[in-house]
Amino acid sequence: MALRDILKEILAAAEADLKSATFKDLEQLKIKYLGRKSALSLALRQIKDLPDDERGPLGRLGNEIKQKISAMLEQFAAGQDHIVDDLDFTIPGIEPLMGHLHPITQTIGDLIDFFAGLGFSVAEGPEVETEEYNFDLLNIPPDHPARDMWDTFWVSRGKDSAHSTLLRTHTSPVQLRYMRESKPPIRIIAPGRTFRYEAEDATHSSVFYQLEGLMVDKGITLGHLKAVIDAMVKHILGDDVKTRLRPSYFPFTEPSFEVDVWFEGRWLELMGCGMVNPKVLENGGIDSSVYTGFAFGMGIERIIMAKYKITDIRNFYGTNFDFLKQF
Ligand code: DAH
Repeated sequence: MALRDILKEILAAAEADLKSATFKDLEQLKIKYLGRKSALSLALRQIKDLPDDERGPLGRLGNEIKQKISAMLEQFAAGQDHIVDDLDFTIPGIEPLMGHLHPITQTIGDLIDFFAGLGFSVAEGPEVETEEYNFDLLNIPPDHPARDMWDTFWVSRGKDSAHSTLLRTHTSPVQLRYMRESKPPIRIIAPGRTFRYEAEDATHSSVFYQLEGLMVDKGITLGHLKAVIDAMVKHILGDDVKTRLRPSYFPFTEPSFEVDVWFEGRWLELMGCGMVNPKVLENGGIDSSVYTGFAFGMGIERIIMAKYKITDIRNFYGTNFDFLKQF
């Protein structure tokens, strides 16, 4: 068949197709008539091999037909906005997925409420902390082996520890930030994100949450510490749990303890605590001959994991809805 007739047939076929087409055929028709492998494209490609006297007129015809088909398709698309007639707005939609606060946020909120009842307020500090607040003022001098207890993400090295920054390895620096700005009596908790440079596995995450506590006043004793911690643990894990203080070491407390809880048939190590080291009180501008205090620091994920028997800490930082939905 002559090229001229082929071109005319393509146009006629396009016109016929469009008569019976609906909106959803549009993409297919575009490919069929204007695509790179369409009959029209093939025909147009053949034109350049024709003898000179045929090439001009046929080239023009070919382009005309191409433009015509484009225009037809465009017109067709524009005339199809009545497509919404097919929608039935009375069909019930998909039930929306309702979100809720993350279990860590819920737990922090619950602990803030609990401590508010004991007269504690909430204090905050920066996540990018200075070396001075994260270590020195907490009685952890440079080169002291105790620094090995906190694998650190360093951010910048300055001329001294007040000008060197790191991602805080614990919430304890908030103690100093708060003491330096206020006078006793002090009763605060400081919940927040903390960071350690370590390999991640089921029980270790380089980003995690702690809740710090600090109480400073005249006559604060270990008895106060024990009572507050006992009440907090019972509030979260239930009235049956027993707590015990086990001697330990932290540079910022003296004496220092680990708190273990008897939970589900075994002792579980939950947090560190102790009586605030007099040096730390002095660093905070508080007269240690007049005031005493206690402090504690608890891993928030850890207590949630114990309560709900969660075995992999990484669940908290993922988007697995089957996990998150349960809270
Ligand atoms: N800052 C300690 C840590 O991250 C936890 C801690 C222990 C906090 C004893 C305290 C404390 O306030 O008194 O390992």
